[in-house]
Amino acid sequence: MINQKKFNILESECSKCLKCSLSSTRNNVVFGRGNPNSNLFVIGEGPGQQEDEQGLAFVGRAGKMLDSAFLSVGIDTNKDCYISNIVKCRPPNNRKPLANEVKECMPWLNEQIELIKPKVIVLAGSTAVQSYLNIDEAISKLRGGWIVRDDIKYMPIFHPSYLLRNPSKEKGKPKWLTWQDLKKVKKEISSV
Ligand code: URA
Repeated sequence: MINQKKFNILESECSKCLKCSLSSTRNNVVFGRGNPNSNLFVIGEGPGQQEDEQGLAFVGRAGKMLDSAFLSVGIDTNKDCYISNIVKCRPPNNRKPLANEVKECMPWLNEQIELIKPKVIVLAGSTAVQSYLNIDEAISKLRGGWIVRDDIKYMPIFHPSYLLRNPSKEKGKPKWLTWQDLKKVKKEISSV
């Protein structure tokens, strides 16, 4: 079981963070959502408009897509995983987070992961893979293959926004591929 008190303190400290300039344009810090007592952690890029307004991760259109993709393999994103992002504050106009923003924000994510101790981490999109694992290869090459580091298994997948732009469910298309990837994730978390 997670140390809930420590997790709450971390969230409260994070909600006051002023370490980078994203703090001056945000409405809310988006710490994460879901179940911190689960063995699956999902890392996205950063909050969008809906997330910034509501203070919750992946609650806009991309979030709905993420939820339905996970549900298609039997993973309820509010019960079976914890979801957060590389940066906790919305980058203006949804631009990619800058290197210094990623650097300043990373300790929050590291501490979340240290407390939750997930067995499996899903990296949604190339920003998550590059920022968290320092791997620069294309997400189309990396997705679907396990990366193992320090006893944690990482599964890179396409970002749900990419799936919104590529809605075909045909075999071999991004949505179908993501379904295959998530089936591997479901199998892995069910076996640990
Ligand atoms: N996209 C992300 O990467 N994260 C969110 O929380 C929402 C959209």
